[in-house]
Amino acid sequence: MKTMIPELSSESVWMKDRQRVEEILQSMSKDGSNTLQVISDFDLTLTRFSYNGKRCPTCHNILEGSNAISNEARQTLDDLLHTYYPIEIDISRPVEEKLPLMVEWWTKAHELLVQQRIKKDELAEAVRQSEARLREGYECFFDCLHEHAIPLLIFSAGIGDILEEVIRQANVFHPNVKVISNYMDFDESGILRAFKGELIHIYNKREGALLNTGHFEELRSRPNVLLMGDSLGDLDMADGVQDMKNILKIGFLNDKLKERKQSYMDSYDVVLVGDASLEVPNAVIRFLTGNK
Ligand code: C5P
Ligand code: MG
Repeated sequence: MKTMIPELSSESVWMKDRQRVEEILQSMSKDGSNTLQVISDFDLTLTRFSYNGKRCPTCHNILEGSNAISNEARQTLDDLLHTYYPIEIDISRPVEEKLPLMVEWWTKAHELLVQQRIKKDELAEAVRQSEARLREGYECFFDCLHEHAIPLLIFSAGIGDILEEVIRQANVFHPNVKVISNYMDFDESGILRAFKGELIHIYNKREGALLNTGHFEELRSRPNVLLMGDSLGDLDMADGVQDMKNILKIGFLNDKLKERKQSYMDSYDVVLVGDASLEVPNAVIRFLTGNK
């Protein structure tokens, strides 16, 4: 088959229907990059899953590993992770069964973080000290979208203040980036007192998307979407997009490859395995912006 994007031929790229992927790309390319918007999850999608055999932290884990919380709280958060993460990634359980458990996880974790009286000015240091890593190729990803004025929505069930700090410290928090996430609410003395707004967890991104109609209304002239996620819950992030024409869904399959291969291939158009870099999304963006 004629290869528009050679990077798609790699062994670590799985596609159920390559022809369909090429058709979507052709149609999006014809419309031009001024009709494109990118919607991406953050944790374990824009950041790595592991490095040198060690798990990389999510936004929550960054705080968990920092001096901003006590040893006892760290242990409790770790116990919560070990209880609930296996449930998050278990494809044998239906979403309806997992949903209340996920709410329970996020709620317990956020309550515990609030009890820790975390200070706003401790966050930057927590991120600096952490092992969080954006995926290889992140400079090109963020810079290229910025250069072509393509809006990037980062839609995360993590912690907005932390993820902003990660991309700020990496010098890629450009003005074309908008974040929807769980934001911390600090009191006048800069101490965490609550989380703002509706909780976003792994399985309610649809509701989160529908609450942000203003954002999607502004982007009405961009009906072509590149969506990137690592969880099946991320597939709902584009539900607020108005008059959608094409969507290309790229999924990072980080963990339990064998068990989850089929469901990821059924849901995502392109599946990237083995803690992939951003090479494939970057190649797609290059193709859509006409940059070779
Ligand atoms: O950015 P994203 O939507 O991926 O953020 C959700 C991630 O945060 C999930 O991968 C989940 O495992 C993780 N999480 C965590 N600790 C919590 C709650 C969620 O590490 N207390
Ligand atoms: Mg994620």
